[in-house]
Amino acid sequence: MIKVWLGAILLFCGLFFSSTIGAFVGINIGTDVSNLPSDTDIIGILKTHQISHVRLFDSDAHMLSALSNTGIEVMVGVTNEEVLGVGESPSAAAAWINKNVAAYLPGTNITAIAVGSEVLTSIPNAAPVLVPAMNNLYKALVASNLNYLVKVSTPQSMGVIPRPFPPSTANFNTTWNSTIFQILQFLRNTNSFYMLNAYPYYEYVKSNGIFPIEYALFQPLSSVKQIVDPNTLFRYNSMFDALVDATYNSISALNFSKIPIVVTETGWPWFGGANEPYATVKNAEAFNGNLIRRVSNDSGPPSQLDMPINTYIYELFNEDKRRGPVSERNWGVLFTNSTAVYSISLSNSESLDANSSTVFCIARQGTDEDSLQSGLNWACGPGQANCRAIQQGQPCYLPNTWQNHASYAYNDYYQKMHSSGGTCDFDGTATTTTIDPSYGSCRFGGSSNSSTSRLFPPPAFGPYTKAIMHNDKSSKVILGCFMFHWRVSYAKDEILKSQPDQA
Ligand SMILES: *[C@@H]1O[C@H](CO)[C@@H](O)[C@H](O)[C@H]1NC(C)=O
Ligand SMILES: *[C@@H]1O[C@H](CO)[C@@H](O)[C@H](O)[C@H]1NC(C)=O
Ligand SMILES: *[C@@H]1O[C@H](CO)[C@@H](O)[C@H](O)[C@H]1NC(C)=O
Ligand SMILES: *[C@@H]1O[C@H](CO)[C@@H](O)[C@H](O)[C@H]1NC(C)=O
Ligand SMILES: *[C@@H]1O[C@H](CO)[C@@H](O)[C@H](O)[C@H]1NC(C)=O
Ligand SMILES: *[C@@H]1O[C@H](CO)[C@@H](O)[C@H](O)[C@H]1NC(C)=O
Ligand SMILES: *[C@@H]1O[C@H](CO)[C@@H](O)[C@H](O)[C@H]1NC(C)=O
Ligand SMILES: *[C@@H]1O[C@H](CO)[C@@H](O)[C@H](O)[C@H]1NC(C)=O
Repeated sequence: MIKVWLGAILLFCGLFFSSTIGAFVGINIGTDVSNLPSDTDIIGILKTHQISHVRLFDSDAHMLSALSNTGIEVMVGVTNEEVLGVGESPSAAAAWINKNVAAYLPGTNITAIAVGSEVLTSIPNAAPVLVPAMNNLYKALVASNLNYLVKVSTPQSMGVIPRPFPPSTANFNTTWNSTIFQILQFLRNTNSFYMLNAYPYYEYVKSNGIFPIEYALFQPLSSVKQIVDPNTLFRYNSMFDALVDATYNSISALNFSKIPIVVTETGWPWFGGANEPYATVKNAEAFNGNLIRRVSNDSGPPSQLDMPINTYIYELFNEDKRRGPVSERNWGVLFTNSTAVYSISLSNSESLDANSSTVFCIARQGTDEDSLQSGLNWACGPGQANCRAIQQGQPCYLPNTWQNHASYAYNDYYQKMHSSGGTCDFDGTATTTTIDPSYGSCRFGGSSNSSTSRLFPPPAFGPYTKAIMHNDKSSKVILGCFMFHWRVSYAKDEILKSQPDQA
C-alpha cells in the first residue's frame, strides 16, 4: 500500500517537473512595537491581506502557536544572540529544534530557519560559529526526520559584496572567502537557498546620485539613462534585479551554481529625518507596489531568467521602539491599528487581478457561525457546489474556519450558477468581490489560471488540476523540485488520509 502511494507521489513530482511555480511575496514581522496587536489579531491581519508567507526574526512561542492551521508558511529565526550557543553545542542545537520547530510541526507550517541576521557584517566575530550552527541545526532536523520539511540558511546583507555594480564583476569580499565557501557548500549539500537582504534604498542613498531614483523604484528609465552591464550587455530595469544578479554572480565566481536566492528582506521607509529625504510615502508606495508586481511576474534577474525571486517585504508594522535614524522606525506597511500606511496590495493575486472582471462570491466578514454553517450546508447539498477542496487534507481545508469553507462553497456555487440565475446571497451571509480569494494551493473557482497569480504549485488533485499549463523552464524545475521535496513528505499524510476519495 505504502509503495503504491510512493509511486503516486513520484508521479506528482514528475508532474511538477513539467510545470513551473510562481514566485511569492511574503512579509517580515518585526515586534519592536509598543502596541503590538495580539497574536490572533495579527493572524486576522495576515488573512485579510491574503499573506501566504511570513518571516519571524525569532521563534516566539505565542506567535508560532497562533500561526498553526492558518495555511501560512513560516520562516523562523535563530537570533544573533542564540547563534553562539547553537554553534558550539550540538545538544543546544537539538534542544533549539525541539523547542522551536518540532513542537509546532505540522500544525504550524515552519519551512525554513534563518540562522542569525547578517552575521558576517553585523557580528563578524561570530563568523567562525555560523556554519557549525547551521550544521548542528541541520543534523538535529535530520535526527527528527524534519530535514525534508525545513530548510536551514543564513541571511546576509549586501555588505558581503563590496562592489555590486556592474553585476557581472561582483564578488564576495575576500575576507569572508572561507566562511562564504562553507556556507555555499552547506546550502548546496542540503538543497537549501541563499538568503539575501537587499535594499535598493540604502544602495541608492549611498550612491550619491550615480543612479537615477527611478532605477531604485522600478520605474521606467528614459532612453538616455538605461543601465546596461558592459560585460554581459544585460539591461537592468531595476536595482533590485541588479543586486540579485550581483549575488548570483558572486556565487558563480566561487564555482557554485544552482543555489536559488530568496530575498529575505527588502523594502523602503516611508518617513525619515531631515537628512533622509528619500524616505517618503510616495517612494515607499512606489517601491513596494512595483516590487510586488516585479516579483509576481515570475521571471528571474537577467542572468537567471528562469529563477523566480521569492521575496519577503520588510516589514509588516512600523517598529517604533527601534533605535537609530528616524527612518528605522518607519519601514512598516501597516500601523498597529491595522490601517495601511499607504495603498498596498500584499496579495499577489489581488495585485494582478485588480483589473480582472471576474466576480467572486465569498462569506461576509463578521457573519455568525450558525448562519455560515446553514449556508455552507445548503451550498454543498442542494446547491450542488463541489466541496471536495475543503475536506480535510485537501488544498482549501486550512484555515479550518466556517468563514473559509463557506466562502469556498459559496463561490463554487456562484461560478457555476450565476449565468443561469444563481445569486450571491445565501440569506444575506454572502457578498461579491473582484479580489481573487485564492491562497496557497487553494484555487477558488473563477480564479485566473495564469501562472502569475500562483503562490504555490497548483493542487495535485481536485477540480483545478487542469490549471497546470506552463512553459517548461529547466532551472525553475530546480526550485520547483527542492520546494517540492519538503512538500512531499508533508503531503504524504494528507494523501493517505484522502485516499478513499482518490480511489
Ligand atoms: C572586506 O571586509 C573587511 C572586513 O569587514 C573590510 O575591512 C574591507 O574593507 C572589505 N573590503 C572591501 C573591498 O570592501
Ligand atoms: C579569495 O578567493 C579569491 C577568488 O578565488 C582569491 O583571489 C583570493 O586570493 C582569496 N582570498 C583569500 C584571503 O583567501
Ligand atoms: C573555478 O573553476 C575554474 C575552472 O575549473 C577554476 O579555474 C577556478 O580556479 C575555480 N575558482 C574557484 C574560486 O574555485
Ligand atoms: C517581468 O519582469 C522583467 C524584469 O523587470 C521584465 O524584463 C519582463 O519583461 C517582465 N515580463 C512580463 C511578462 O511582464
Ligand atoms: C491608525 O493609526 C494611524 C497612526 O497612528 C492613524 O493616523 C490612523 O488615523 C489610525 N486609523 C484608525 C482607523 O484608527
Ligand atoms: C486597470 O485599469 C485601469 C482603467 O482601465 C487602468 O488605468 C490601470 O492602469 C489598470 N491597472 C493595471 C494594473 O493594469
Ligand atoms: C485558462 O486556461 C484556458 C485553457 O488553456 C484558457 O482557454 C483560458 O483563457 C485561461 N483563462 C484565463 C483567465 O487565463
Ligand atoms: C506547508 O507548506 C508546504 C510548502 O508550500 C506545503 O506543501 C504544505 O502543504 C504546507 N502544509 C500545511 C500543513 O499547510
